[in-house]
Amino acid sequence: MLFNIVFTSAIATLAAALALPKRQPPPIWQSPFTGIIVTPSVNQPMSFGLDFPFEYDVSDWCEPAFAPFTVYLTEGEPPVFDNVTATGALTDGAFAFEFGKFVVSRFGLPQQGLPPPASLTLPTLEELDLTLGPDSEFHLAVVEEFDGCPGDIAVEYGLTSVPLLMAV
Ligand SMILES: *[C@@H]1O[C@H](CO)[C@@H](O)[C@H](O)[C@H]1NC(C)=O
Repeated sequence: MLFNIVFTSAIATLAAALALPKRQPPPIWQSPFTGIIVTPSVNQPMSFGLDFPFEYDVSDWCEPAFAPFTVYLTEGEPPVFDNVTATGALTDGAFAFEFGKFVVSRFGLPQQGLPPPASLTLPTLEELDLTLGPDSEFHLAVVEEFDGCPGDIAVEYGLTSVPLLMAV
């Protein structure tokens, strides 16, 4: 009986060992800090098809030379970190529109990529291919990329969002 149990568990261990060389997808690391969406503010009234002022304060917790981030409009429940992909995007279906990827250069370094603009343009409902319901919810979301932070993590991401009040 005892032999049987030991033998069975030895087989189980062997089976587990044989199954080991399975490849895991790379982990997606969540930054302990995110930047702050200064504008638009929470529940700021906005209109489809119009410009709105935009300001995002990057998080400098790991003193990056460059702080890249991507800005999205999402529809429905607020986006969650589970919706961030290994390349720092929101997954397909988790956003209605991507405004673009921008980079803040720090320490007076030359600009890389596109600097964040002072305003963004909301698409029209037709461009978004959306119809509004009574419970439609929209968020402005930012995924910031952090490179070379303490802890030997090559890249991690932070997600933050604010709800918007969409005027019809
Ligand atoms: C976003 O993540 C949540 C929580 O895991 C999940 O329920 C939802 O389906 C995800 N959205 C998309 C579009 O993958």
